[in-house]
Amino acid sequence: MTFSKNNIPMLGATVGLRRAHHDDIIAQQPELPWFEILTENYLNRGGAVRQELDTIAKRYPMATHGIAMSVGGTDPLDAAHIAAVKKLNQQIGARWTSEHLSFNSAEHTNLSGLIPLPFTSEAVDNVAARVHRIQQDLELPFLLENVTYYMTISQREMSELEFLQAVLDRADCGLLLDVTNVHINARNNGYDAEAFIRALPPERIAQIHLAGFNEPEEGALIKDTHDSPVNTAIWDLYRLTLDHVGPVNTIIERDSNIPAFEELLAESRQAQTILDEFTEA
Ligand SMILES: [Fe+2]
Repeated sequence: MTFSKNNIPMLGATVGLRRAHHDDIIAQQPELPWFEILTENYLNRGGAVRQELDTIAKRYPMATHGIAMSVGGTDPLDAAHIAAVKKLNQQIGARWTSEHLSFNSAEHTNLSGLIPLPFTSEAVDNVAARVHRIQQDLELPFLLENVTYYMTISQREMSELEFLQAVLDRADCGLLLDVTNVHINARNNGYDAEAFIRALPPERIAQIHLAGFNEPEEGALIKDTHDSPVNTAIWDLYRLTLDHVGPVNTIIERDSNIPAFEELLAESRQAQTILDEFTEA
């Protein structure tokens, strides 16, 4: 399957679906264009949570976002896991699906986290081969998300930008661009976030994540905590991204310190207002 953004409908700005907001969404049926779910929160799950998801999926277009496929790993791909993701995608009518450019299992041990990859040609080859397999199995447009990293990876043959460009090219998949992760990596590692984004291939950027984070103490690393409202620096970088790419499906991502649904709804409307500027232009 050759990646083309044309296979992904342009829907607009929304929020990541979280369990805490199921009741509000079902009761209020807010005018949101789509939802992204965290795949593993619903995988192989029945009961009320699953029924709520099915109700929401009947009303809204959906996309799934996973953390457990270990796309960059060296353990064999988990066929049962991929099959379960495929089944969930089919059941909720997911329009596209995404994973992380990282690994989460090594020597058959779950590392319970998104571990960054070394920026080497060997890692590019490995990711590309695995993504081809995953895309073939899932039969849906497939995106990889750029992750944060907090250590200098000693094995480095290229920059983060070159690594990401090579992966997208060789894996022939889309990019879920986490604008906040670019901002955080740029500050932690001393590069220019705007130049980084402008060097990415616009035809591959098919979704955007926006999240807030806590400003650290002077000199400390910034972490992608997903626990605060999106700040001005991220809104500015979002604008720059849309200027480079054009309108892209966007979600506000919040994973802890989850506020009332209205608060996230307001943030998604803020994103939609910015998106509209680039849609009409
Ligand atoms: Fe993200």
